Amino acid sequence: MNKGIIIVLIAMSIWASCQQEKYGQGKRIYTAYCANCHMENGQGLGEIYPSITKSSYLYGNISELPCLILNGRQSSQISTVQMPGFSHLREAELSNLINYMSHTWGDQSILPIDKIQDRIKNCQ
Ligand code: HEC
Repeated sequence: MNKGIIIVLIAMSIWASCQQEKYGQGKRIYTAYCANCHMENGQGLGEIYPSITKSSYLYGNISELPCLILNGRQSSQISTVQMPGFSHLREAELSNLINYMSHTWGDQSILPIDKIQDRIKNCQ
C-alpha cells in the first residue's frame, strides 16, 4: 500500500469515529432520559407518548426544544399524560441531545450551545 492510501484510510477512520462520537453523547442522554417513554426509535407509545420522529419540533422548530425539555409539558391535546421536565440537564447536554434527535429523525439542523443559552432565558 502506498503512503497516500494509508493517510486517506487513517483520515477516514478518524472522521468516522468523530461522526459517531458527535451524536454518541446525545444518544446516551436520549436513552437515559427519553427512551422509556418515547422509545429507543422515537416512535413513542400509541396515544400516550407521542412520536418524536414526526414532531414539528424537529422540523423547523428545534430552538423550542430546550424549554420543552427543561420544563416538560402539561397535557395538551396530544396526550392525556404529562411530560416531566428535565431541569438538571446542562446546556451542553441539551445541545448534544437535540442535535442527536435532529440528526436521527429531524431536518438535520443544529442547535449550538450559545443559541440554547439565549433561548432558555425566555422559557415561559
Ligand atoms: C414520562 C414519559 C416521558 C419522558 C421520560 C419524556 N417524555 Fe417527551 N413527552 C411525553 C408526553 C406525555 C408528551 C406529550 C405531552 C402533552 O400532551 O403535551 C411528550 C411530548 C414530547 C415532545 C413534543 C411532541 C410534539 O410533537 O408535540 C417532544 C419533542 C418530547 N416529548 C421530547 C422528549 C425528550 C427529548 C425527552 C428526554 C429528555 C422526553 N421527551 C422525555 C412523555 C415523556
